[in-house]
Amino acid sequence: MQLYDLLKKVLFLFSPETAHNIAEFVFKFFSNYCQFIPSFLVTKYFVTDKSIEQQLLGTTFLNPVGIAAGFDKNATMIKMLTSLGFGYVEYGTMTPIAQPGNPKPRMFRYKDEQSIQNAMGFNNDGRNKIAKRVKKLYPFTTPLGANIGKNKNTSSDDALNDYKILLNTFKDLSDYMVINISSPNTPGLRDLQNEKFIKELFLLAKNITDKPILLKIAPDLEIKDAINLCSVALDNGADGIIATNTTIDYTLLPNSKDFGGISGKALKEKSYNLFKELGKEFYGKTILISVGGIDSAEEAYKRIKAGASLVQVYSSFIFQGPKMIKDINNGLVKLLKQDGFSHISEAIGNDYR
Ligand SMILES: Cc1cc2nc3c(=O)[nH]c(=O)nc-3n(C[C@H](O)[C@H](O)[C@H](O)COP(=O)(O)O)c2cc1C
Repeated sequence: MQLYDLLKKVLFLFSPETAHNIAEFVFKFFSNYCQFIPSFLVTKYFVTDKSIEQQLLGTTFLNPVGIAAGFDKNATMIKMLTSLGFGYVEYGTMTPIAQPGNPKPRMFRYKDEQSIQNAMGFNNDGRNKIAKRVKKLYPFTTPLGANIGKNKNTSSDDALNDYKILLNTFKDLSDYMVINISSPNTPGLRDLQNEKFIKELFLLAKNITDKPILLKIAPDLEIKDAINLCSVALDNGADGIIATNTTIDYTLLPNSKDFGGISGKALKEKSYNLFKELGKEFYGKTILISVGGIDSAEEAYKRIKAGASLVQVYSSFIFQGPKMIKDINNGLVKLLKQDGFSHISEAIGNDYR
């Protein structure tokens, strides 16, 4: 039995959000007061190999598996997440002003379906507090992404200004930034997934910083709309696309709530299908990151062959723990070898060659 299986038995006695808060507390404690623990864990879980190391987005990724946004909303767990094997951490989503998020309960675990449903609503400490925290460790040993979103009380008309504030705050505290207009839990946010806003946003962003800026999109967009919006973003300076956020297709998860976004196994196929279409269109033209239901080396490899330079996980990490990250990375090294590739770059987008 793995240590995480035991730990999970205890954590799963609590509500998902309480379990998350306990994990965050323990992670912070270890990073601050028991430095030998992260140092030990890194030797146990962190995998790197020349075949999966990449120079991308102006930095070095020692392995291609990142923790998706939303797990470390306040940038308090960066060190521990890296020790547990993640090749990069995308912290956030941060908003300009701290906000409590939606009323609880707002996170639900579906153990048999290996899925999660959340309606968190960008609960976070706000840009100033988070920036202060990240300043203490940036630049970090592995790449850091900053995922940014607007405050709930900011009207759509003023949304651009929220992103402007956040880009200015985090441009020197991250290796790449992510524009999040795809969360289903902030009223009106997904409506910003329109040509006019995306164009204005990236024109503004490119005036603020040279750091890579990526757009994260929803899996619920029609394929032609997703391709169109990504094209607009790329034409106006976006450096990559992250697909996908959680889904509001509640038919995918029996007994799900009728609010919030679904992630994990129930999202896998939908997320892959959209990613594959984006891969066909944009592979070779920009950096693509796949996220949504990835839970094994085989699934990560499938996304890589469909055009992903990097992958991210969230839900499967809850159900399987850090050994899965190690297994994905070791598995990728093996799968590349099996297919006769000496480096991951030869496998990326192989479906289209
Ligand atoms: C509890 C929870 C909170 C999340 N919060 C955010 C967030 O703040 N910003 C964001 O861009 N994505 C957020 N996500 C979406 C994830 O980053 C990811 O896109 C999605 O969960 C699909 O990946 P998965 O199937 O591996 O979980 C959240 C997901 C979960 C489960």
